[in-house]
Amino acid sequence: MIDPKLLNRFTRVCERAAFGASKFRGKNDKIAADQAAVDEMRTELNKIEMRGKVVIGEGEMDEAPMLFIGEKIGTGKGEELEIAVDPLEGTNFAAKNLPNAIAVLAVAKKGGLLSAPDTYMEKIAIGKGLPKGIIDLDNSVEKNIKLLAEAKKTEPDEITACVLKRPRHDKIISSLNKLNVKINFIQDGDVTGVISVVDQNSPVDIYLGIGGGPEGVLAAAALDCLGGQMQTRLVLSDNEEINRAKKLGITDLKKKYNIEDMIKGDVIFCATGVTDGDMLSGVKDKGDSFEASSFILHKSQKLSKKITNIIKK
Ligand code: FBP
Repeated sequence: MIDPKLLNRFTRVCERAAFGASKFRGKNDKIAADQAAVDEMRTELNKIEMRGKVVIGEGEMDEAPMLFIGEKIGTGKGEELEIAVDPLEGTNFAAKNLPNAIAVLAVAKKGGLLSAPDTYMEKIAIGKGLPKGIIDLDNSVEKNIKLLAEAKKTEPDEITACVLKRPRHDKIISSLNKLNVKINFIQDGDVTGVISVVDQNSPVDIYLGIGGGPEGVLAAAALDCLGGQMQTRLVLSDNEEINRAKKLGITDLKKKYNIEDMIKGDVIFCATGVTDGDMLSGVKDKGDSFEASSFILHKSQKLSKKITNIIKK
């Protein structure tokens, strides 16, 4: 079990990162927004008493000076933890001041998080309370939708799917259209997209499509705490990407990962809104302080809540 007292500390990490990025909302500079979030996140992580290691971060050591994969973080004393970070998920959203930019991280004990390379990943996810294993990446879209509709005692045309709007998803979209499935398109931000399958306030029943690998593991951490189902598979398009995966210890390059293959044991998940969004409100400037809204989850504590804090700048 991860010390429950650390949850507040990790929440502060996301709050600070969100605050950093919020200064660049609408400034059309996604790199500066991301850098500000990275700086704040790293500074705050290093204050936490832990022997932490970044397993999902801003890239490999030679391509990211901060929060690179393998970077040691924390004070160097205390629990041995692995951290997956996305200091700014939805860099375009922040740069254009559009909804759903968040700062997000997940924490597990040593060996608890899949170290996914920064490549694409196929993803499929559904909410809780459904028979285990009813969806599968090897099923056709039609089969997955029909099985889901059956399990929900409804018809395919009553199902809502969330899909990232990309040309690579045209085939998925045309299959969904044939079944008259309702589609919630998102422009970016598939961590929030995947989580929408377990959000009571969202109509989304299923998430389908290809997005970032690191974002897949972060979303899996949230779904693990909330009882959703998810299956993923890396999409490795060339030798460079294959080598990248191998370097991270991945041997079976075609493996289908269920949540328990990506997240082992206890896990903490925190996300803080940068801009106002479906899941969270964005950072509000209050002069000497700022207000930040976060979604925090701790699996072993069965804790899931949304909180709003006022923090001194
Ligand atoms: P960034 O915040 O790094 O810009 O990522 C946003 C995002 O939409 C992710 O949520 C998603 O997994 C990925 O990009 C999809 O990648 P692409 O834009 O190449 O389709």
